[in-house]
Amino acid sequence: MLTGRHLLLIVSGSIAAYKALELARLLRRDGARVTPVLTAGGAQFVTPHALQAICGEAVMIDLWSLEQEATGGHIRLARAVDAVVVAPASADVLARMAAGLAADLAGAVLLATTRPVLVAPAMNPTMWAHPATRANVALLRARGIGFVGPESGEMAEPETGLGRLAEPPAILAAIRALLAAGRLAGPLAGRHVLVTSGPTHEPLDPVRYIANRSSGRQGHAIAAALAALGARVTLVSGPVAIPDPPGVTVVRVETATEMLAATEAALPADAAVCAAAVADFRPAQAAAGKIKKVPGQPPAPIALALNPDILALLSHHAQRPRLVVGFAAETSDLLENARHKLARKGCDWIVANDVSGDVMGGSDNTVHLVTAAGVEDWPRLPKPEVAARLAARIAEALA
Ligand code: C5P
Repeated sequence: MLTGRHLLLIVSGSIAAYKALELARLLRRDGARVTPVLTAGGAQFVTPHALQAICGEAVMIDLWSLEQEATGGHIRLARAVDAVVVAPASADVLARMAAGLAADLAGAVLLATTRPVLVAPAMNPTMWAHPATRANVALLRARGIGFVGPESGEMAEPETGLGRLAEPPAILAAIRALLAAGRLAGPLAGRHVLVTSGPTHEPLDPVRYIANRSSGRQGHAIAAALAALGARVTLVSGPVAIPDPPGVTVVRVETATEMLAATEAALPADAAVCAAAVADFRPAQAAAGKIKKVPGQPPAPIALALNPDILALLSHHAQRPRLVVGFAAETSDLLENARHKLARKGCDWIVANDVSGDVMGGSDNTVHLVTAAGVEDWPRLPKPEVAARLAARIAEALA
């Protein structure tokens, strides 16, 4: 929760600026006070009236406003807040931040602030990939600026690639994590939590593999939510196309075997959340060279071998975490399968989700928390909200 926190929200010129209104609403609902700053570019996409109404506070636009300077001034404001958030951050804003330009109010605030800064970039994928933007981002990261997103997916233009603004719930989670990191408090302070996320890739030969549609979004969101509550988090992730969550140690792996090794290497842990969609089987033998098709002959069958069950092994490990949480992604008989899984794997909780719809790779999730005590049905929620609830429950259980 951001109760009592004061944020400066800078909205710059990007077609995604309309999502800043949704973000402002989420921030306020989470308890934060939000002072909005609109750049000239931002004002082309959202009106000051809309931003002001949602933030419940006068929107600041003009560096030279006598009235605003008389009632506090931008330099004092830049230091009085708990954090500065730029969402969306256009390519131009990143360039101006990198260069330290202060000709407008947003630039002046960003140069004058001594508080943590989080940016959520949004721009055309070609602009994001441009060497100028790459250099600016590297410079800003090196200066300690936090980033959330961008994500890949549908853009305003008929073009796909990295550049889409992170979803507002993910930005909210990143802000919570940013503020928790500077606080060293939170109910999970001093705890180590292990999270697995993403799919695994099981090689058939040097160029081909067996995989699944897991995006890693739910597992990564859980890692971020645990970090936001003060935990030290080790995230063991299969190959994903989403950014690392802020404030988390990420160990990248490809196969289930590597995931198991990385998971065991990260022990001891107070809790483990196995959210990865680990491939149950791998090709028994990965061919050393690319498998060729032979004209006129049917393809050779692929012999499969069973992968280690990381969740079950952790649940029976000599260094078993006090709380072990698994996931059950099912397309039928959800709760019955989840209850069996709880017993079979030896874990404490199962988060059961129905993946027959658009859950795999999607932004929302409908889950049920299955424990020895019974089943709790949670409403359909954005994945970062599922993560925040689960993290809160883990904090309670470890308290
Ligand atoms: O058996 P099933 O794959 O349905 O179980 C899902 C749960 O088990 C998830 O928590 C997943 O992360 C975990 N799992 C695992 N290792 C495997 C298979 C599943 O950790 N090889």
